[in-house]
Amino acid sequence: MRTILVASSKGGCGKTTIATNLAAFYADAGKETVLVDCDRQASSLHWAQKRVDQSHPVLGMAGRISARGVAKIPEGCKRCVIDTPAGIRASEIAELLPQAHVLVIPVMPSIIDLEATEHFLAELQTLPEIKRRKFPVAIVANRLKPWTNASQAAVERMAAWPVPLVAQLRDSQGYVLMAGLGRSIFDYHSEHVRSHQDDWTPLLKWLKKHD
Ligand SMILES: Nc1ncnc2c1ncn2[C@@H]1O[C@H](COP(=O)(O)OP(=O)(O)O)[C@@H](O)[C@H]1O
Ligand SMILES: [Mg+2]
Repeated sequence: MRTILVASSKGGCGKTTIATNLAAFYADAGKETVLVDCDRQASSLHWAQKRVDQSHPVLGMAGRISARGVAKIPEGCKRCVIDTPAGIRASEIAELLPQAHVLVIPVMPSIIDLEATEHFLAELQTLPEIKRRKFPVAIVANRLKPWTNASQAAVERMAAWPVPLVAQLRDSQGYVLMAGLGRSIFDYHSEHVRSHQDDWTPLLKWLKKHD
């Protein structure tokens, strides 16, 4: 089983959006997928519940941040995605790292989000696995409006961080619409949304590389 941890100290940056879309991607590919929700808001759990009667369901499980295991993952599960709450601290990430294979950090293109994430990354550098670059970490820019100066400047700033900027996801109503249906951007079949699916290709490749 491969486990993807999605985390950031910042709220509203797209943790649940990225966690649910990744879980759906793997489920659609025929892999038994569990989505563990460590956030009391339980948005990922609610999403998984909406999906139970669909052709490629994802098993949603409530989790807790603990070194003894976020949840009791069923045997035979091929992919596990862990969604986490805002305000997570480096000490909590340290408890989760041994249970995961990669860490994905979503970031929105605003000064508030960039500064908060820089602070979070500095905290993560206190963890030996991350400092020694032993643990794969990816930045995913989210909700970009690529024609704006703010998005362009944010992408430049992220590109200079010590952790690779692996993918750039645009702002799209497709995410909002599909989230409400227990679906993902990969379940949306329209010419317009296809380009938003392509935004995920570098992240999916990076995840495959670390499989
Ligand atoms: N790429 C995107 N395009 C449009 N809306 C998005 C995108 N990513 C996230 N959102 C919306 O932004 C809000 C916050 O995203 P969410 O995934 O819940 O963040 P978090 O879990 O980090 O708090 C939600 O309403 C979500 O639907
Ligand atoms: Mg969330």
